[in-house]
Amino acid sequence: MDLRVEYLVEPIGLGVRKPRLSWGSAGDVEIEVWKADGTRVWRASTGEAWIEYGGERLESDTAYRWRVGSQFSSFTTGLLDASDWRAAWVRPVQEPAFVERWTLTDWITGQRPELPVTSRLRPVQLLRQRFSVEGSVVRGRLYASAHGIYQAWVNGVEAGDQVLAPGFDSYQDRVSVQCYDVTSSLRGGANVLAFALADGWFAGRIGVTGSSAQFGDSVSAIWQLHLEYSDGSTGVVCSGGDVAGSVGGWVYADLFVGECYDSRAEPSGWKSHDFSDAGWAPVGLSGEGTAALRPFSGEPIRRLGEIPPRAVTGDAESGWVADFGQVVAGRVRISAVMAAGQTVTLEHTETLDGDGNWYTNIAGINKEQTDTYIASGLAEGESWEPAFTFHGFRYVRIKGVDSPPDATAIVLGSDLAWTGEFRCDDARLNRLHENVVWSQKANFLSIPTDCPQRERAGWTGDILVFAPAATNNAQVVPFLRRWLDNVRADQLADGRVPIYSPYSPWDAEAATLGTGIGAVVASAGWGDAIVHVPWALYERTADHRVLAENFDAMLAWIAYQRTPEYSESLHFGDWLTPSTIEGRPLHEAIGVAPALTGPLIAPMFRAQSLTLAARAARVLGRPEAAELESEAGRVRAEFAASSVSEDGRLPVELQGLYVLALAFDLIPARARSAAAARLAELVESRGGRLDTGFLSVPHLLDVLWDTGRRDLARRVLWQSEAPSWLYQVDNGATSIWESWDAVGPDGPRRELSLNHYAFGCVDDWLYRRVAGIRAAAPGYREVVFEPDFEAGAGEVRAHVGTPFGRVGVGWRRRDGEVRVWGTVPEGVVARLVLPGGEISLPAGEFDHRRRYP
Ligand code: BGC
Repeated sequence: MDLRVEYLVEPIGLGVRKPRLSWGSAGDVEIEVWKADGTRVWRASTGEAWIEYGGERLESDTAYRWRVGSQFSSFTTGLLDASDWRAAWVRPVQEPAFVERWTLTDWITGQRPELPVTSRLRPVQLLRQRFSVEGSVVRGRLYASAHGIYQAWVNGVEAGDQVLAPGFDSYQDRVSVQCYDVTSSLRGGANVLAFALADGWFAGRIGVTGSSAQFGDSVSAIWQLHLEYSDGSTGVVCSGGDVAGSVGGWVYADLFVGECYDSRAEPSGWKSHDFSDAGWAPVGLSGEGTAALRPFSGEPIRRLGEIPPRAVTGDAESGWVADFGQVVAGRVRISAVMAAGQTVTLEHTETLDGDGNWYTNIAGINKEQTDTYIASGLAEGESWEPAFTFHGFRYVRIKGVDSPPDATAIVLGSDLAWTGEFRCDDARLNRLHENVVWSQKANFLSIPTDCPQRERAGWTGDILVFAPAATNNAQVVPFLRRWLDNVRADQLADGRVPIYSPYSPWDAEAATLGTGIGAVVASAGWGDAIVHVPWALYERTADHRVLAENFDAMLAWIAYQRTPEYSESLHFGDWLTPSTIEGRPLHEAIGVAPALTGPLIAPMFRAQSLTLAARAARVLGRPEAAELESEAGRVRAEFAASSVSEDGRLPVELQGLYVLALAFDLIPARARSAAAARLAELVESRGGRLDTGFLSVPHLLDVLWDTGRRDLARRVLWQSEAPSWLYQVDNGATSIWESWDAVGPDGPRRELSLNHYAFGCVDDWLYRRVAGIRAAAPGYREVVFEPDFEAGAGEVRAHVGTPFGRVGVGWRRRDGEVRVWGTVPEGVVARLVLPGGEISLPAGEFDHRRRYP
């Protein structure tokens, strides 16, 4: 059994009063929950694979033990009420962050900061608080958060193993609180808490425009250390006026620009209790309240792995270029023997040019991605990894050292449970799948981002497109639920869901100063994420809470979609549709799909969101269901009357528009086959190459398949000329690119990201059609195995995690026979579709063979 609380193993600092307890299998079980002192707070039984806690009210900062059958586990609650907070926000003495405000237009027109980075960035703040422990501590929990990003130490020992805490949130409304078990770092007598506090997402340069101080211009922190002694007494150490601050080794640290660390300036021993902080300044109290503080939910950002360089080329003068062989999000640790004051710089990029020369594919304002280390000159050598930044890269160029230093890529990301796998006997399809997984890893970093280097923004449209695929690879409910909390916080009073979330006050202001796509606040296909993402999560996990939490926000978005403003405003449309960007300079090209396809995309997504919201209403037993259904019908009828000709033609003849019109059922039955035929013609006229943008690409293969053109769906999947998925693979992709032709056979074509998961949505097809695992009821309670034996692979294996445990399938086609085998967990009703008929599968292992063809 796999005992989890809110999808996590033995979480601490849990923020909900009615956590979801699960054990990864169905069957009659008894559940009991106790407080640490042995008092039982709940007993229940169920035949399901999960249950919502329904016992006595859970208390703050309390340890609980629970059991399912004979298996035991635990969890602890965090500070559940604002009134649990006694600490004050402490604000170190600091020069306010240099405020730079840029708009999208500034970026596009090539404006850049005039002052050098060193005059615009500022040092990381160090904080210390002494306290004494009288007696023997049996439990110590540190609750901490910051405006900025922080790292904490207790007596020099790092608290936990998270990085970039507290993570990115819509800080105006919510600031996440981490909980660390620091019991083993405490000792009797003098102790010290130490914090390093950097600008991070709060005050640093972030987002589309690379503007700074988007949530505030000063950093501050808050913490509370809860102590429990062996005699049962308790104590609390709160951040307050006794905290002392200074600056140290970090000359500056910015998530986007990079970090500069002068190790000579690090006050030796500043994290230990016996350090003399006589010269440090007392901090101020910011006076801010604690209402926005919330226990962090989901998985923290951690170091997910290390990658050694595959090759190091170059020379001391032009720099050493280490190739890690993989596009990642993270940073580089270096080790070398260096002289005191020796300055080493590390620049990051995702690709070289066609001749193997250094090339920077990430353009924009404040996107330097450059770290600097100034050595202290230790005879035995020194090692450094930046702490308050990360980059998107495959290559690093290191300057300032005579010989290549040891360099290791540290992969960062939110520490999800990776529950799915797809493998087949074709190396290219495997690589495509791995590329998707890498892009998911890199962009599931605190929030779901478009890319981990240029904008790093929680673009709503990108995750709308990718969410179904994401669910196969990992357990994404906690991660996306946390993000949806932010989306709801950012939703405007009139129902508009911003184009990305977190959405800062500056984002809102910049939109009022912008023109064209720079002025878009909410867009069809982006704002609809508030409906599509919860629905995708519900379909794959049956966790109805995600529907319940977001239902009112769905209705508010739908209400906005009824307004003339929605139909008349500019939408991103089928963003980056290949034929609309081919042959045009990028800044011009990106405006074409919005103008051409936006007016049609708007009613299409309105209809589909109404339909999905109606389904959500049915699940939740809400009274709005029938009205939403009939409104969806009216919107479809209006669309058909205004935009679909008798012979199934659309006013704009692009593959993507036909795909969406068919996928969202916007073509009246009489014209459906004509429209499908037209789509097939459009695909064929491009030689079996796709011409779909962000919004339509997830539906392309399904629509071809469902309209009887399985041959064409397979041809598009296996296409190797651009635009196509395997073109990327054939051209050395190790992640999913933002644009199909981001890299040509002779090197990068434009300054585009090589790490955007959106087009990786095809991964869902690999699981659903090539391997053939499909959820036929929410949460895989019913499963259909229907492999495509013509898929082009000879042998395929895949599995996904479900609430009932792992659902897996494998198939092989050989010597005129197909063999299909797999696993059906208890509680799941499954059937296998084989040539010549269907078989119902009982729980357990199965293995069937058939003559084929
Ligand atoms: C981002 C996207 C996003 C798009 C919308 C881009 O710059 O990288 O992925 O969805 O803008 O306009």
